[in-house]
Amino acid sequence: MKELSRTEIIHLLSLSKRSDIEGLFKRAYEIKKEFVGTKVYFRGLIEFSNICSKNCYYCGLRAGNKDLKRYEISEKEVLEAVDIAWKSKYGSIVLQSGEISTPDFADKVERLLDKIKKATNNEIGITLSCGEQPRDVYQRWFDAGAHRYLLRIETSNQDLYYKIHPNDKDHIFGDRLECLRSLKEIGYQVGSGIMVGLPFQSIESIADDLIFLRDLDVDMIGLGPYVEHSNTPLYEHRHYLIPKKDRFDLALKCIAILRIMMKDINLASATALQAIDEEGREKALMAGANIIMPNLTPQKYRGDYLLYEDKPCTNENAIQCKGCLEKRVQKYGESIGYGEWGDSKHYKKRKK
Ligand code: 5AD
Ligand code: SF4
Ligand code: FES
Repeated sequence: MKELSRTEIIHLLSLSKRSDIEGLFKRAYEIKKEFVGTKVYFRGLIEFSNICSKNCYYCGLRAGNKDLKRYEISEKEVLEAVDIAWKSKYGSIVLQSGEISTPDFADKVERLLDKIKKATNNEIGITLSCGEQPRDVYQRWFDAGAHRYLLRIETSNQDLYYKIHPNDKDHIFGDRLECLRSLKEIGYQVGSGIMVGLPFQSIESIADDLIFLRDLDVDMIGLGPYVEHSNTPLYEHRHYLIPKKDRFDLALKCIAILRIMMKDINLASATALQAIDEEGREKALMAGANIIMPNLTPQKYRGDYLLYEDKPCTNENAIQCKGCLEKRVQKYGESIGYGEWGDSKHYKKRKK
């Protein structure tokens, strides 16, 4: 089948009639059913450290935000969270943190990976989301048992990239691209994604992002709406933002279009969707997503991992999120892939 053209993508992103939008979601859902099935895979999310050396203008964890208690979860607490995931038969976990690239941090993560593998009999899949790192660190973590890595490009438009990041040596667009290439070469299943509805972001630029992700040939995509955070520099530009509801719709359209463009990838339903719409994460499943990340971070740390405002689940614990998401998924008629890694089918094909 022929690939969607840039013009067609722009047309789909611009749909405004509700029935047309629903039609797009339905088409994406049919493709999801045919190529990856209707099972939803759970990835238990452990936000193990909010310490970050970077200063992305949109994110509440940026180093410049001094109104935040910084934490690093102990190894014991991480292993307890992993145990909940394992006993709950989540196929995999995601270890996420702010970005620090010190040798000490690299060692810690490596040790942690080793312990998790041992504690779970090698049964749990491990995804990392710890930002840009030197290639040898990516390699060591891969050798220690991580097999997927998430690194969003955030936007593929370089002008916009430097409007939402400081223009300095810690935030270089080319470096991020290089990281994505290294991760792929090492053999990770690679995930990337963008934020949708950023100030100064045009529909054309979003269309280019989707084409960029297709050309990068990623195995997984996680994308969500941009949600402002009052303690960040980008908040100054909030008057340029489209309404939250429209950012939500646009993110769902991106998910649907990507499912049509990249049929066999794993597509995550981002938590940020639920910051705007109470049923946001479920609605994304109906538009083509097949991955959900229940939060496993110990409750006492959740209030300090606020990337954006209205982040859901900050007053709940891992068990509550499990029960809650199960109900949510089932309410929409989908089933949950317990005890399976749920690897990206695209990755398997790419490796053949
Ligand atoms: N709104 C939405 N997503 C955000 N992220 C960071 N800050 C925000 C925000 N204000 C996303 C980025 C990052 C991921 C971990 O969280 O895309 O890659
Ligand atoms: Fe740090 Fe990531 Fe937030 Fe940027 S998006 S400030 S790297 S946690
Ligand atoms: Fe966490 Fe509903 S998913 S409380």
